Amino acid sequence: MILVVDFGSQYTRLIARRIRECRVYSEIISCFASYEDIKARKPAGLILSGGPSSVYHRKILWDRRFLALGVPILGICYGMQLVAYLLGGRVRKATRHEYGRKRLNVRRTSPLFRGLARPTYVWMSHGDEVTRLPPGSQVIAATDTSGIAGFQTGQTYCLQFHPEVSHTRDGMKIFRNFLFGICKVRGDWTMEHFIREKVADIRALVRTRRVACALSGGVDSAVTAVLIAKAVGRQMYAFFIDNGLLRKGEVALVRSLFRNSLHLKVVDARRRFLRSLAGVEDPETKRKAIGREFIRVFEAEARKIPGIAILAQGTLYPDVIESGQGQGPGGVIKSHHNVGGLPKKMGLELLEPLRGLFKDEVRGLARRLGLPDAITSRKPFPGPGLAVRIVGAVTEERLRILREADFIVQEEARRDPTYASIWQIFAVLLPVRSVGVMGDARTYQSVCVVRAVTSEDGMTADWARLPAGLLEQIASRITNEVKGINRVVFDVTSKPPATIEWE
Ligand code: XMP
Repeated sequence: MILVVDFGSQYTRLIARRIRECRVYSEIISCFASYEDIKARKPAGLILSGGPSSVYHRKILWDRRFLALGVPILGICYGMQLVAYLLGGRVRKATRHEYGRKRLNVRRTSPLFRGLARPTYVWMSHGDEVTRLPPGSQVIAATDTSGIAGFQTGQTYCLQFHPEVSHTRDGMKIFRNFLFGICKVRGDWTMEHFIREKVADIRALVRTRRVACALSGGVDSAVTAVLIAKAVGRQMYAFFIDNGLLRKGEVALVRSLFRNSLHLKVVDARRRFLRSLAGVEDPETKRKAIGREFIRVFEAEARKIPGIAILAQGTLYPDVIESGQGQGPGGVIKSHHNVGGLPKKMGLELLEPLRGLFKDEVRGLARRLGLPDAITSRKPFPGPGLAVRIVGAVTEERLRILREADFIVQEEARRDPTYASIWQIFAVLLPVRSVGVMGDARTYQSVCVVRAVTSEDGMTADWARLPAGLLEQIASRITNEVKGINRVVFDVTSKPPATIEWE
């Protein structure tokens, strides 16, 4: 396993991805992790990410012992400056900043650059530079503006540029050289390995205890539950809470999928959720009320089963990052209901087997675990459900309207060839009414928004250029079939500045 130490770079996840593309398992760990923690994981190599800090501000005091861990190290950007600094080199604010594509001359005798073209082109983005090498190290790369764009000392290799971004032409070659030539790992990591390792880890953690798992109907929690069930069988209890904010047909789908393979309890909590939302219009108050109710219901249900000591959640890597609980000094973007919250209050041990994975990897895992397409290809759906897609107060009647409209959007979208390329497509109900005419009569009814976005990971998104024919069909069916809507509009905003959900 290769550990990527995160110093807060926006590219840290990309590094982990590139390693996995070489079929080597990688995990990201905080730069605040202890020496003992990192050593205990027995990495075959460490990669130090970039980051927003400057080493001379000394905000991050990294333990020097890491450099003597005896495993190869690859320092990237800030990672390079840190190594230079810790080993006695000098780092200064650069007199000429380097941003963007740069021509690079490399020393091809360095094992890191074996087989590279000369010159090659790389992507730079840094404000500091190494101006004096640590004693005993050699320069292995230089640009026109930077005499030290890379250096090596023993088994430690450092690069000022970013091999992980696609603009660095030979980036993957550099990673392969590091992994296979220097760390001597084998590129044989597959999802089967992941499953085998996780199953063994889960068994070791759970032992004879019982696990509670909240199913949401989405792919993440479904995979989590199936993986844990594979490891500890019927020691796991899955709960599916019907909060009344679900999509049409969702309860029946989850019930039919898991009834036979899991201890599954569907909890009907529609009443209490709706009660807690009565008259609430503010989005954050809604989210908090739903989160609170969710904890209460889950806690009450879990307590009915003796011996539950562990809580399983389908948290993914991007959830962790967005909630500001990422590994490095990155900022808070927004709090997802499923990260944090539950365990602190419940005193249960937490089990999050997918915490290091990306969404597309989870989908691959779901297929390997034999989950049906109805689950694997599901688009993300927010924990607070339709409540954050009903702008303003949530009532049973408005839920009915939105549920019907959304069902039509799903049905039509799924038939369209663009469906696979869309991250999410759904309906939103506005607290706005407009005048229309149906038959010969005037109507005064609600406006519904169709929101469709493309995205890599939900953190940024663009509005999807849906075919006009699809939009026309959706609008026509909604206004004809859903009582209460007489106008359909299409949202053409990206994220940022908007978010994907309306609340
Ligand atoms: P936003 O609206 O922040 O959403 O652009 C980004 C992605 O996250 C989903 N989302 C949530 N998922 N709990 C979740 O599990 C939540 O509270 C939550 N809020 C938003 C949203 O659907 C999109 O995919």
